[in-house]
Amino acid sequence: MTPSAAAARRERAAALRQQIDQANYAYYVLDAPTISDAEYDQLFRELQSLEAEHPELRSPDSPTLRIGATPATALAKHTHARPMLSLANAFLPEELLAWEDRNARLASGVRTAGYALEIKIDGAAVSLTYEDGRFLRGTTRGNGLVGEDITPNLRTIHDIPLKLTGPNHPALMEVRGEVYLPFRNFERVNREREEAGEPVFANPRNSASGGLRALDPEVTRRRRLRMFAFTVEVIEGEPVATTQHGLLDRLEHWGFQVEPHRSRATTMDDVQEKVAELASVLPRLPFAADGVVVKVDRLSLQAELGTISDREPRWAIARKFAPEIAVTKLRKIHINVGRTGALSPWAELEPVELAGVTVSRATLHNEDVIAQKDIREGDWVEVVRAGEVIPQVLGPVRARRDGTEKPFHMPHHCPACGTPAARVEEEAVRYCPNAACPGRVLEGIVHYAGRGAMDIRGLGYERVRQLLDAGLIHDIADLYKLKAGRLVELDRFAEQSAEQLVQAIANSKAQSLSLLLFGLGIRHVGKQVAQTLARHFGTLDALMAASREDIDEVPGVGSTIGDAVADFFSDARNRRLMERLRTAGVNFTEPHLAPGDGPLAGLTIVLTGTLPGLSRTKATELIESAGGRIASSVSKKTSFVVAGDEAGSKLDKAKKLGVEILDEAELLRRLGRSP
Ligand code: IVH
Repeated sequence: MTPSAAAARRERAAALRQQIDQANYAYYVLDAPTISDAEYDQLFRELQSLEAEHPELRSPDSPTLRIGATPATALAKHTHARPMLSLANAFLPEELLAWEDRNARLASGVRTAGYALEIKIDGAAVSLTYEDGRFLRGTTRGNGLVGEDITPNLRTIHDIPLKLTGPNHPALMEVRGEVYLPFRNFERVNREREEAGEPVFANPRNSASGGLRALDPEVTRRRRLRMFAFTVEVIEGEPVATTQHGLLDRLEHWGFQVEPHRSRATTMDDVQEKVAELASVLPRLPFAADGVVVKVDRLSLQAELGTISDREPRWAIARKFAPEIAVTKLRKIHINVGRTGALSPWAELEPVELAGVTVSRATLHNEDVIAQKDIREGDWVEVVRAGEVIPQVLGPVRARRDGTEKPFHMPHHCPACGTPAARVEEEAVRYCPNAACPGRVLEGIVHYAGRGAMDIRGLGYERVRQLLDAGLIHDIADLYKLKAGRLVELDRFAEQSAEQLVQAIANSKAQSLSLLLFGLGIRHVGKQVAQTLARHFGTLDALMAASREDIDEVPGVGSTIGDAVADFFSDARNRRLMERLRTAGVNFTEPHLAPGDGPLAGLTIVLTGTLPGLSRTKATELIESAGGRIASSVSKKTSFVVAGDEAGSKLDKAKKLGVEILDEAELLRRLGRSP
């Protein structure tokens, strides 16, 4: 090995690290990605293999350490160096006054020392130990004294610096903060779970703490959790600030994210006013927040006030606002049979106004929750909808029972087909195992025809139910035998609509293998996985011939997916179904994306600034699907730069190099779309 080759490798690793760190910053902090996911993956994999071949190149703060740990079998307990406190609540302005009065009796200067106000983030509390500026260990709160070690999972969260970016940090400290899942990611996680036939999360908090405590860090990484830091416990070293506000500045300086709505107040009157201002911000935040935390700003005064039996501080309090709750009558508990066979109970309610919408259905989660809360049919129940997508039944108002309420027992048989429905070990969910179950078949066909799958216009629930009831179809393969002549004999079908439907079904035969695979509704196979499998194997025959191990080995596909796919295709009924689809003429191949196709083929494009109508992701997607490549920096090779508002140095560079500059409207024109 020549020394210059080693030096070149070291330089390349450093350059890759820098590019990846920059891309992470743009994605996670600025929320404005500069490179595509594919480009990012390429850089990441190059660094990973460089480090694997030359371990001496590994640095403790390499972005590759954010993944790659092996799943644990259990989480180890860890005793916090200082207890993790919880907060007392105040629901009324007077309770804040009483809080100040109590503090003023214990320490002098309370009323004039000033307060710090912060948003109370509704996530999961974590404690992060930093030794000499490096992230050493991270834990959950646990019972406040002892938590669980979740270091590999926390490493996957990009808001957590692996190495502090600013100087002057204590030799040993614990940074405390809240890990949360933004609503946007929460909805994505639930959509993916729904597509994969898994039970959805009721709120972002559950999804965040589940993600944190996953045994496999890959699960945490995929969830894309975020973190805000709000306090520091110095274990060894000098105090980091004199006020809470200054402490947050220091945290930011070290590379942590601090919730931006923090503010300061000089007197309690001022606090009350600012609390009201922040309260109006809460519903508009992109993440769940459940109040405002008011803290005595001066840290010496905090120390003087101390804590109540190591449980909660006297110097801070959570000002909360009652969530929107409505009381209504639960008419009946229904069971929905999902396409994977999962039986989910839901409540039919007497319609009630809640946070501006009329609610007549709410989730009941699962049978354990119903039993635990003793929710009965005919009960008056509290329903809540707190920034969360699905309204949920909180529990019964027992005082209003009159004895006519009926306790609920989860059926042990599928309500749609009568097959015994078994509970899966360690899950609170029962599944109907019968693939031919009418409930599952209905959901399965609707899913197959759905927009994200084979996209058969006009084939929604009503139509599918009608076709099943008329005995015209029994499964997805039967769709391709439908004749317009038979359809017109049914209600609500005219000649034209019958022909349109038959045509839409025929058109679906040409859909790509990835859409077909997703449409088949194999457990754990969401859109992304279907695409990965289709691209890897190229044809359905190759996938069907693959062994469990072959499938497991596909990057991005784990053994759970491998097992589900292999099980699906080893079932003789499913193999017969595939043969019937083949005979019908359904496409079993994935088109190879020729890199030279599309109006932007061969062009390298740089995006900068905020475009008026397109998000970064959308613009990237449009450019890539037109054959273009997105680059993160401007060079002489750049074909053109698309500049939006507040474009900075990239625009300057493009001007200097004489690279063509377009606006969004011009980009759309070149993409063949009218702006
Ligand atoms: S300070 C004593 N500030 O709320 C210091 N906590 O209900 C501990 N939380 O366990 C809390 N946002 O996990 C603080 N801006 C904020 C917070 C916050 C959310 C959480 C924290 C705590 C829980 C108490």
